[in-house]
Amino acid sequence: MTTLTNPAISVRGLEKSFKEVKVLRGVDFDVDRGSIFALLGSNGAGKTTAVRIMATLLHADAGDVTIEGFDVAAQSGQVRAAISLTGQFAAVDEILTGRENLILVAKLRHQKDAARIADDLLARFDLTEAGGRRTSTYSGGMRRRLDIAMSLIGEPSVVFLDEPTTGLDPQARLEVWDTVKKLAAAGTTVLLTTQYLDEAEQLADRIAILHRGRIIQNGTLAELKALLPPAKVEYVEKQPTLEDVFLTLVGDDGTEQENTEKVEES
Ligand SMILES: Nc1ncnc2c1ncn2[C@@H]1O[C@H](COP(=O)(O)OP(=O)(O)O)[C@@H](O)[C@H]1O
Ligand SMILES: [Mg+2]
Repeated sequence: MTTLTNPAISVRGLEKSFKEVKVLRGVDFDVDRGSIFALLGSNGAGKTTAVRIMATLLHADAGDVTIEGFDVAAQSGQVRAAISLTGQFAAVDEILTGRENLILVAKLRHQKDAARIADDLLARFDLTEAGGRRTSTYSGGMRRRLDIAMSLIGEPSVVFLDEPTTGLDPQARLEVWDTVKKLAAAGTTVLLTTQYLDEAEQLADRIAILHRGRIIQNGTLAELKALLPPAKVEYVEKQPTLEDVFLTLVGDDGTEQENTEKVEES
């Protein structure tokens, strides 16, 4: 594994079990500053578990995780000040307008000038016109963009997006992809989880495949594609898609890890 000298996120030997189910069995990776890193895995692979540990919401059983140099276990306050987390389900209040949602969050995070912050974010996410409307009238893509905008209040340097486009239609997915690209272009480090191969292919500078509790591959799209030889069809070279690489590595038993017994941790 390549080790970065000053990564925004560093994960070493991460382990987590729920009862007797070992979800993470020694996960290692680094995420470079200002890059987009995709944690790719099937449903139940442990992506959300890993994100919750990195975001200080869940304790690991073993391993070391640092965010911007701060240890998630020993320095959780500093970690929380550096990050934001947007979950799979949009956290916007439907009774409020988009602008009111942003102002509310800005005030909760003790920001001065909440109205100006709200207007800036509306402009940045192409929501200025919609800003005065109740979010119950928004499309799925608009709602997710607002959700991501809300998570940027307080200017986190590391943003976790857990399955940011799951459940969105194709147009809305493109809108969210555009948003994520702009975030990284502005210098924010983005770790996103996804079960969509095309999402990782479109967005990520690096892709790590989480399977059976471990990272089984970690590389750029070009590096992952180089794992499979190009198939020759007459005179036309066909490059393997990320899907070919994924299915060859993982097989078609991707859902095997799913724990049938969903016991909530207290
Ligand atoms: N709080 C919990 N208690 C018990 N099992 C859990 C809990 N959270 C997750 N799991 C189990 O851990 C495994 C990984 O879940 P999760 O991290 O949500 O996967 P992903 O986000 O990749 O779909 C699943 O088998 C899931 O049922
Ligand atoms: Mg998940």
